[in-house]
Amino acid sequence: MAHAGSILAKVLQRVRKVVKPGVRTKDLDELANKLVLSYKARPAFLGYVSGGRRYPASLCVSVNEEIVHGLPSDRVLAVGDVVGLDFGVIYDGWYADSAITLPVGPVHPQAARLLAVTERALQIGIEAARVGSTVGDIGHAIQVYAEHQGFSVVRDLVGHGIGRALHEDPQVPNFGNANEGAKLQAGMVIAIEPMLSAGGKAITLADDGWTYKTADESLSAHFEHTIAITKKGPKVLTR
Ligand code: MF3
Ligand code: CO
Repeated sequence: MAHAGSILAKVLQRVRKVVKPGVRTKDLDELANKLVLSYKARPAFLGYVSGGRRYPASLCVSVNEEIVHGLPSDRVLAVGDVVGLDFGVIYDGWYADSAITLPVGPVHPQAARLLAVTERALQIGIEAARVGSTVGDIGHAIQVYAEHQGFSVVRDLVGHGIGRALHEDPQVPNFGNANEGAKLQAGMVIAIEPMLSAGGKAITLADDGWTYKTADESLSAHFEHTIAITKKGPKVLTR
């Protein structure tokens, strides 16, 4: 999984450099796909089945009020957009999952703050991912920080265990109560993925059957890492 994670990190580092005004979201998908194959690994999301549908791309590209699972298309990124890139890798049957959200050119200061707070919320969640803690401790730490900063936490989508499949137990919500939920043990691997909005927490699913958006069309951001729980503390596999 560490190898899958390191490939994923390299792919996202390359793809983030081409995020600029004028680029099409499907150009980002094509680049991510080409790169992952060059590392002799496979994209985890291409063909992923959910609700009887197959995800048609390798990279999820979610713009502005789109929270996650946006479909790459002919859409051209514009100055002031924020764009979420979510990617998954399979290497030798093992999965890794990671996401970042980036500004496209200069963005509104409140958008920049949403990105910074969401990335920091992920880091706070990671620090809570310790042997003997619970998934509730992770969610609680993320929620308290995010809400204190004036943002909402999306509740209908959650992080997850990961290993031989993309989504395994336990669920890892980005909200909750300390000491509640599944206990974390050494050797577990989880994907922590806070999704924050500048408005309300309610979501809607777009007509394409994949793209989740904020119901009030407020700006949203998403960061994700795959984390191993070890006796020495959390180990980020996708950095
Ligand atoms: N990181 C996303 C998740 O954990 C990946 C979505 S896979 C997709 O749900 F195929 F549904 F896009
Ligand atoms: Co995930």
